Amino acid sequence: MSEVDILIGAQWGDEGKGKWVDILSEHKDIVARFQGGNNAGHTLYIDGKKVVLHQLPSGIFRDGKISALLSGVVINPTQLASEIAFVSKDIKINHENLWISDKSHVVTPFNIYDDEVSENLSQSPIGTTKRGIGPTYRDKVNRSGLRMHSYIDDHLRHEWVQSQIQSCEEFEKHYKEHQDIWNEFHAAAAAIKPFVMNAESRIRQALKANKSLLLEGAQGTLLDVSHGTYPYVTSSTTVSSGALTSLGISPKKITNILGVAKAYTTRVGEGPFPTELHNDHGRLLAEKGHEFGATTNRPRRCGWFDAVAMKYACEINGLDYILLNKIDILDGFETLKIATSYKHPTLGQIDEFPSDHKILKECEPVYETLEGWEGQIPDEADYDSLPKELKAYCNRIEQLCETKINLIGTGPYRDNYIQKH
Ligand code: GDP
Ligand code: IMO
Ligand code: MG
Repeated sequence: MSEVDILIGAQWGDEGKGKWVDILSEHKDIVARFQGGNNAGHTLYIDGKKVVLHQLPSGIFRDGKISALLSGVVINPTQLASEIAFVSKDIKINHENLWISDKSHVVTPFNIYDDEVSENLSQSPIGTTKRGIGPTYRDKVNRSGLRMHSYIDDHLRHEWVQSQIQSCEEFEKHYKEHQDIWNEFHAAAAAIKPFVMNAESRIRQALKANKSLLLEGAQGTLLDVSHGTYPYVTSSTTVSSGALTSLGISPKKITNILGVAKAYTTRVGEGPFPTELHNDHGRLLAEKGHEFGATTNRPRRCGWFDAVAMKYACEINGLDYILLNKIDILDGFETLKIATSYKHPTLGQIDEFPSDHKILKECEPVYETLEGWEGQIPDEADYDSLPKELKAYCNRIEQLCETKINLIGTGPYRDNYIQKH
């Protein structure tokens, strides 16, 4: 039977998905991104060298593997063309190993402008990455977007541009005033065209031939447009079910669903974050964890592990396993805290992650305190040999989230992990 695994972010993004996909892709035939665009920044270390991928799947550096971008992804073509050129220095990229869905949608220069202007003028900005993601998904759902299939066809692309010019004065102004950007946008079509195909159909064929697939999520569960802290979310379905619609595959075909979580919590951008720390502990997490956004370089907000949010993530994604990442950053903390419920000024104790961002903002976390461990844990070790406090921390997370931890991340490199289950 073909193996189809889904890996998603279980918090607010930047959990370390890229590293895990790079590791796990060694044993997969195909790695496919199923949503998001270049708002993502997935960090890998290849031969000790740091690489941040924004659009290409994180298995791209493994020889002999296929990488795919599926229908639910939005693509900035100029940025993708330069990312392909960058990766091509190390790996031969061609239409046999890079499959781009003809049903994916294209982020246009006007979408980026729109995102920037909306954020700059808003009284309550989302803190987006200003990569045009929201406006591109809006156009897709509005049935006025530019699909990859049309983008790579010169005639259809120009026809689409003309229709926008005729229907929107602001678009026309932008097109006339930013000819250089639009010229680049047009030019990138030729660079992308060789890779564009019915990628979903090819993957389904490959699965029939018993090939294995890893579906790579971007962003995180709490940024999901339906299940996240709306409106402080991204504009796509980041949870595991998003992989099914993006590929077009039966839920029955999925083997394992893996959720990556940091051993603490971070968030970039605006929006509620109950366990956020504005004290020395928060600063220490940020400093030790190098918590700066891989896409925008903004400082990430840091806080304790939130088991209320994590249990919610386990449930809505149907997680089989948690990959608990960056445990090394907790080395040397005398005590550690885990939020086990919230307390609301009028609603009292809350055990379930609230739907309303205003309620979540008013929640105070109720903490359980655990002992920290002394010294530095080794990058690679036998789980049983780890400090008892670290094992107690992991066991408590498993208990509270009712989900097993499979792998534990101990550093940013390929071999920095410990197997728990
Ligand atoms: P992604 O968006 O989920 O792929 O995560 P990012 O790449 O944005 O952020 C994760 C950061 O943590 C990157 O700088 C990684 O190199 C780093 N990282 C990943 N796993 C570990 C780990 O186990 N320990 C440490 N110290 N750093 C890690
Ligand atoms: P990866 O894949 C962390 C956040 C932005 C903002 C909100 C909406 O690297 O984990 P958008 O530009 O998507 O409209 O912004 O979502 N955001 C991320 N935060 N990691 C990401 O991706 C993110 N992609 C978007 O900061 O709060
Ligand atoms: Mg990231």
